Amino acid sequence: MDAYLADLSFGAEKGTAGLDEAMRYSLLAGGKRIRPVLALATAEALGRDPDEVMPLAAAIEMVHTYSLIHDDLPAMDDDELRRGKPTCHVAFGEDVAILAGDGLFAEALGLALTCQQGDPVRVLAAARELTVAAGVGGMVGGQYLDVTAPEELDPAGLRRLHELKTGRLIAAAVGCVLLLCGPGGPATLHLGRFAEELGVLFQIVDDILDVTGHETELGKPSGSDARHGKRTYVSVFGLDRARELANDSHAAARAALGQAGGSTERLEQIADYILTRQT
Ligand code: IPE
Ligand code: IPE
Ligand code: MG
Ligand code: MG
Ligand code: MG
Repeated sequence: MDAYLADLSFGAEKGTAGLDEAMRYSLLAGGKRIRPVLALATAEALGRDPDEVMPLAAAIEMVHTYSLIHDDLPAMDDDELRRGKPTCHVAFGEDVAILAGDGLFAEALGLALTCQQGDPVRVLAAARELTVAAGVGGMVGGQYLDVTAPEELDPAGLRRLHELKTGRLIAAAVGCVLLLCGPGGPATLHLGRFAEELGVLFQIVDDILDVTGHETELGKPSGSDARHGKRTYVSVFGLDRARELANDSHAAARAALGQAGGSTERLEQIADYILTRQT
């Protein structure tokens, strides 16, 4: 995965070398690569060669990296450390960081539509899924809810926020591959349900780690949510209940996966890792 990402460059020949540098700086800074790894594991679960979906997997990671660059901006979470390095705006300035995020989003779609092999109708459906997951009904809409959430946000509202800001893009990592090479039918439905729950689980654990984790392991500041008065599973439910809800969410995800059939061992490992991760 990382070798494929490292080979990407973003048109440095038109006086845009600095932009290419900023985009690659954030993209190649590390990160857990959960979303592309999920995409590859989904291909494997469907009996396909994971390499077949590499451009789509890379595109999802590029969209995610764009979301991180913008999430860290002073007008959003105002964080200065990401993936163990100074955030993009600290390293390159806010103006370049905004453009690096914009650039990664557009280049991600370009990559998927140019390099992803497959039935063109299916490639388009997968690219559409990625776009919708990144949009107002997904990540961007969720980020809006995050920055405007009222003090008294109820549990259903909090779950909705997590479904959108984080869950939808994680679900798309599975959903895009199902659209590209899935057989349809019940297995697809179960894998879709698994992915949706996994996305919510991911953000519940992110909320917990913001309180219990350490900057050196997380590669980003801890305590950022409390500093900004963010509505999270910990602030709404308390740490113990948040942990219980994470366990419930993990169990629901594993149950859906159990119904899917196929070679789901790697997807099971990813679900377990998402619950127990410390980074
Ligand atoms: C962080 O995502 C942002 C959230 C959606 C919680 P990750 O925890 O996957 O970040 P990286 O990709 O490993 O840096
Ligand atoms: C961000 O959620 C979700 C995105 C869409 C990037 P957070 O603000 O909790 O992510 P971190 O903790 O900064 O990685
Ligand atoms: Mg945020
Ligand atoms: Mg943040
Ligand atoms: Mg967080």
